[in-house]
Amino acid sequence: MSRPIDHNKIVILTGAGVSAESGLQTFRDSDGLWNNYNVADVATPQAWQRNPQLVLDFYNHRRSEAAKAQPNAAHLAIAELEKNFDVTVITQNVDDLHERAGSSNVIHIHGELNKVRSTLDPELIYNIGDKPIKPGDTCDKGAQLRPHIVWFGEIPEHMDTASQHLKTAGKVLVIGTSLAVYPAAGLLKKARHHAEKIIVALDIERKPYGYTWLRGKAGDIVPHIVNCWLEGRRP
Ligand code: APR
Repeated sequence: MSRPIDHNKIVILTGAGVSAESGLQTFRDSDGLWNNYNVADVATPQAWQRNPQLVLDFYNHRRSEAAKAQPNAAHLAIAELEKNFDVTVITQNVDDLHERAGSSNVIHIHGELNKVRSTLDPELIYNIGDKPIKPGDTCDKGAQLRPHIVWFGEIPEHMDTASQHLKTAGKVLVIGTSLAVYPAAGLLKKARHHAEKIIVALDIERKPYGYTWLRGKAGDIVPHIVNCWLEGRRP
């Protein structure tokens, strides 16, 4: 017997597009990261084995950029929702702009830029803020530190928890993701038929079944949706 929908529960699923207006590059837009870097050189376990310095440089640069960025109107509006609703943010993003905007329940399924972990014991995770790491920086057990990022070919984090949240949410708002990467994109199908489901993006490869697509910038559209929900209205 499936658990009932909780109409007070909102799940927000975000991708790089929600941070674009904060000045952080997305991945697959024309000026995206994957147009300037080869994924195979900076975002796979094989890349780490082959050239750890290049991988560390890539994430040190992104960590520094993310630390300089500020939350935008979409991040702030999402945090506002917590006034009236039980909100869980499930993000593919590795920046901490949701937390800095005030969201208190954020699940990072692709890791976090401001954390690093031991290459010997993955349970050994350290928060380094905006600091760079270099070859020779080691954990308490003497092993090299690596970015706490889920690389291609690795298993995303907290997926079962994320899936449970989707299954009971009365409202699901998907923001700024091309839905190009699984299993993250597969989370959308966990949402219930009767839940209110909206996706906000400039462009998507295909509209997910049962979702209303509002085409436009997150900073313009998300505050409007949030105001409607806080006033008890459909957007
Ligand atoms: N407002 C709303 N949507 C936007 C904006 C904006 N200002 N700018 C860009 N977008 C949309 C684009 O139209 C696109 O649909 O955001 C999406 C960005 O897609 P991607 O660059 O593919 O980013 P994302 O979906 O987060 O990528 C998923 O892929 O490389 C991996 O691990 C990486 O987490 C990432 C995953």
